[in-house]
Amino acid sequence: ARHYRIACIKGDGIGPEVINEAMKVTEKAASAFGFTVEWTELPYGANHYLRTQEVLPDEALKEIGKHDALLLGAIGDPSVRPGILEQGILLKLRFHFDQYVNLRPAKSFPRVFLPVKADNVDIVVVRENTEDFYIGLGGRWEKSTSQQSFNLKRANYEMSGDLRLEFSPKSNAAAQVGIATEGAVRRITAYACKAAQARGEDTVTLASKSNALSWIYGFWEDVAKDEAQKQGMKLQVANVDALCYHLVRDPSKWGVILTPNMFGDIVSDLLAGIAGGLGVAAGANIGDGLSMFEPVHGSAPDIAGTGKANPVAAILSAALMLGHLKEEEAAKAIEEGVRSYLEEAAKDELPWEFGGKASTESVGDWIAEKVHP
Ligand code: NAD
Ligand code: IPM
Ligand code: MN
Repeated sequence: ARHYRIACIKGDGIGPEVINEAMKVTEKAASAFGFTVEWTELPYGANHYLRTQEVLPDEALKEIGKHDALLLGAIGDPSVRPGILEQGILLKLRFHFDQYVNLRPAKSFPRVFLPVKADNVDIVVVRENTEDFYIGLGGRWEKSTSQQSFNLKRANYEMSGDLRLEFSPKSNAAAQVGIATEGAVRRITAYACKAAQARGEDTVTLASKSNALSWIYGFWEDVAKDEAQKQGMKLQVANVDALCYHLVRDPSKWGVILTPNMFGDIVSDLLAGIAGGLGVAAGANIGDGLSMFEPVHGSAPDIAGTGKANPVAAILSAALMLGHLKEEEAAKAIEEGVRSYLEEAAKDELPWEFGGKASTESVGDWIAEKVHP
């Protein structure tokens, strides 16, 4: 019998609300397609931190690593200084498990609220997930303190040791350093090329910005072009600012968009907005070891506790997880269940995000009902 052990961090704000629905729909898919799922819930997030001062201990990483996948809601809470939980939990997980691909499909769904005419979007953002400005290298210089240098101390698959910068700014100052390594650019470019090939396409678009940031993104372009050629694919380079413009004007003509880490963060929210909402934007963090599945959106403190959160993004993230576990039929059935729910729902039965009145829980119930072989 097929059996999966899934670790689960529901997290903060709407995280638990949407993950409960993702678990419900996953359970339905499991019974419909003949496999079983065992959940290990882990308590990390704002409440746990405020109670214990613990963010994400090393034993938790070890425990999570024994599972087949990790399903995560969202991390971050207004009562905790920004960064502590997001970096200490989310980024720590991505880096620890070397989840180098952040896959964020942007697809059109029926009945969504569209700010621009964009009813035939089928784009996949392939976001590099281990480098760029996300590596935690930086420092702040305060006139009142004597600190004038900082060290990089982190290790990943091909980076270890210290980088030391020293300078004496004339006023308070801060710096954040981005890194790109050839190995990381090659592996994500190869992944994007294979994703495009699987879609029957011959071109990958790279979101870049070598006109302003030549060191890091000039390097990206050179390495990505070479790797794409090796993969037998074309690489089209676009400046990320102009790319955003084109995406809003006509999102229908784009396929696989390869991005460095920070541009991918921004472009994926932009595409979520174009394709129908953060409430339907699913995501996967994929590595050679443990992979993690989470919606693109955050903990949405502005609607937490109201029952207005749309669980579709979390449900579709669970579908990506099942696809990753080779339960492709179940994954497909969930996406089809979402589509038929949206198509068939009465106006009031749509999520709040699309002008309806359906609670998070009832959206989950309706979708679960529609998942079958
Ligand atoms: P957000 O994604 O939480 O919210 C942006 C807007 O989208 C809000 O108006 C929110 O109500 C709406 N929204 C988001 N998800 C929705 C859903 N499922 N249904 C309906 N509406 C939805 O971004 P933010 O406000 O910048 O961040 C809030 C917190 O979440 C911060 O602490 C941030 O650091 C954190 N965050 C965490 C993750 C993550 O864990 N993966 C991702 C992004 C932000
Ligand atoms: C995301 C989030 C995270 C990111 C934050 C919360 C660290 O915005 O998953 O898109 O920047 O990657
Ligand atoms: Mn983001």
